[in-house]
Amino acid sequence: MGLFTGRKGLVLGIANERSIAWAITENLHREGAEMGFTHLPDAGDRPKNQNKVAKLVDPIGSKFLMPMDVCNDEHIDAVIAKAVETFGQIDFIVHSIAFAPPADLTGPTYASSRNGFKTAMEISAYSLLAVAGAAKRRNALSKDASILTLTYFGGEEVIPGYNLMGICKAALECSVRYLASELGPDGVRVNGISAGPVKTVSAMGVGDFDDMLNLYRGISPMRRNISADEVGKTGMALLSDLSSGITGEIVHVDCGFSIMGAPPADFFQQPEAKA
Ligand SMILES: NC(=O)c1ccc[n+]([C@@H]2O[C@H](COP(=O)([O-])OP(=O)(O)OC[C@H]3O[C@@H](n4cnc5c(N)ncnc54)[C@H](O)[C@@H]3O)[C@@H](O)[C@H]2O)c1
Repeated sequence: MGLFTGRKGLVLGIANERSIAWAITENLHREGAEMGFTHLPDAGDRPKNQNKVAKLVDPIGSKFLMPMDVCNDEHIDAVIAKAVETFGQIDFIVHSIAFAPPADLTGPTYASSRNGFKTAMEISAYSLLAVAGAAKRRNALSKDASILTLTYFGGEEVIPGYNLMGICKAALECSVRYLASELGPDGVRVNGISAGPVKTVSAMGVGDFDDMLNLYRGISPMRRNISADEVGKTGMALLSDLSSGITGEIVHVDCGFSIMGAPPADFFQQPEAKA
């Protein structure tokens, strides 16, 4: 029997096999979870996004796959309604969604457009509140449900290149705490994982990714980068009964990078650091 045998939930934010949401899904599936999924709606006639996600989730027995744009309240409500129709109540929600218009993301933050800021905040931070709100209104969450979102250290400290998304992540992390406080009396937990860099579609839009990986490898106490599966394992644990006393937390899965106030001495001996 797996940790998730008999447990049901929603995973929002798989784009392809590199997505962090997919790494979490693989761990949930291994433990016996039943899941419904969403994909970004396709423009035009070709179901490109749908096909990419279906190729991954069909073989693991997906209970449903629906289009959902988090900027559209009707989409969100339809997904929650489908989850209730399929599962009754759900035990977990994975929210693994972020976006900022590239022109606004490249910075500096003071050059962000008003509309770019609104879009980035709406998709990357407000969407967690919207999904939680829709689930609450439909009484979709079981008495020990767990909600998980994904964030990054650039929401706590300045990471050059992360720019506008850092501001969104600060709002997202604060939303985790408010939601945890508001949903806690129902038994519902809300947490975030602050992940180190993982090579995904979204990550490639933020600065020079290979430099970032080198930096993390050189500075992290563990002197390496994380794997998507390490985020997947911790995500699974935060959604499971293993973490039944944890809520409102942002757990860093970053090989310790975020605890360092300055690079270690050996960082300056690395050829890439000297270059
Ligand atoms: N990859 C990293 O290095 C890293 C590190 C820390 C945190 N994160 C966070 O992890 C989460 C997942 O990102 P990822 O790296 O797996 O990349 P990804 O591109 O695989 O996932 C991002 C998802 O957001 C979805 N999305 C974007 N706009 C949407 C909208 N309007 N409606 C619905 N869905 C929408 C995309 O379809 C995609 O599935 C994001 O919140 C990201 O900021 C990523």
